[in-house]
Amino acid sequence: MRHFDHRDGELHAEDVPLSRIAAEVGTPVYVYSSATLERHYRVFADSFGGLDTLVAYSVKANSNIAVLQTLARLGAGADVVSGGELARALIAGIPGERIVFSGVGKTRDEMSAALEADIHVFNVESLPELRVLDDVAQSMGRRAPVAFRVNPDVSAGGHEKISTGKKENKFGIAWDRAESAYAEAACLPGIEVVGVDVHIGSQIDDLAPFEAAIRKVRGLIERLRTQGHDIRLFDIGGGLGIHYGDDNRMPPPPSDYGQLVRRLTADLGVQMVFEPGRMIAGNSGVLLTEVLYVKGGGDREFLIVDAAMNDLLRPALYDAWHAVEPVRLPEPDQASATYDIVGPICESGDTFAKDRMMPAVRAGDLVVFHSAGAYGAAQSSQYNTRPLVPEVMVRGGQYRLIRKRPSVEEMLERERLVDWSN
Ligand code: LLP
Repeated sequence: MRHFDHRDGELHAEDVPLSRIAAEVGTPVYVYSSATLERHYRVFADSFGGLDTLVAYSVKANSNIAVLQTLARLGAGADVVSGGELARALIAGIPGERIVFSGVGKTRDEMSAALEADIHVFNVESLPELRVLDDVAQSMGRRAPVAFRVNPDVSAGGHEKISTGKKENKFGIAWDRAESAYAEAACLPGIEVVGVDVHIGSQIDDLAPFEAAIRKVRGLIERLRTQGHDIRLFDIGGGLGIHYGDDNRMPPPPSDYGQLVRRLTADLGVQMVFEPGRMIAGNSGVLLTEVLYVKGGGDREFLIVDAAMNDLLRPALYDAWHAVEPVRLPEPDQASATYDIVGPICESGDTFAKDRMMPAVRAGDLVVFHSAGAYGAAQSSQYNTRPLVPEVMVRGGQYRLIRKRPSVEEMLERERLVDWSN
């Protein structure tokens, strides 16, 4: 069932008309459906029936603490990549034992905060990082649970900026160095080797690269065990794609992914860890915006909306395609138009869509960008001194503001005029 649907001629989030949110909170604003978030988590988590699993939601996709709290209540863990994300996960009620810490550049402070929180595992990406972690853990009288992120040299992912599993990428330990890395780790008193980690990319719409990566890691786990390592965890990362509504290939349903993982790992005797981000949050949110101007005259018509690339960066950064839809259902005789949909920022890159056919709209009309729940608000900024875009969560007929729009004073309060007079 869809939780963003037209009712009485108007797009709703669950039972709340989007025009009500626009009137009360203002635009632009992200609107999330808690029912969709919950459904996506459950569909994913339930697809591994019988396996020992930890679903560690990838916080970077949508890090709002209310989103994390909603998932925490269903038993979700968290995949974090910074001390800030770790703090968010803990505040939202995700216990340390369900948190995995990924990322190529963890600092000593971040490592000690994570050790303090007794996290489940550190996904370590290099030997220099391992040695620092060993040092930090020893100085705290602890042992850090470690899985090496290995780079399986598998090609996957929708866009070169989000493909991570090839050997030319900066991520992970090179495949042919993995075994010697484990040998070194086994000698470090502050380190406890527990598993193997991979993450091959994002917006992957095909099961083949997952299968290739799992098969390679299986072989590695078997070799590591014969070398005496007690490998009890296999983190396969995130990356399962979602349907953005365009003509591109449809990603496989989570049930097919679950079946693949079960078939390839059921006899391996490991806990399987997953780090889904986009799959959980992507289609749980829309960016709601108002048409400011319809500017014609030249050889094309521009729809100038009050959202901009600082609010939703994906089209500018990855040429990403988001479905656009007016909040008011068009009248049966309403004309269509072809627009370039742009924001107010002073860059040509501030373009959400080119040559987009849609029902003709006017200044003051509301439109949404669909599939904006992942890597939308989380990648927003205050560029052009535009206030950080607010976020709203809907549950049934109610909604709550979960990130408020800052005033100009609040935006400036961390800055200082310089005074060189003394
Ligand atoms: N685990 C690790 C180690 C990751 O680097 C990522 C995403 C994930 C899990 C979650 O991947 P997902 O399930 O969401 O595909 N901003 C880009 C996507 C960047 C992905 C970065 N890493 C976008 O908007 O498409």
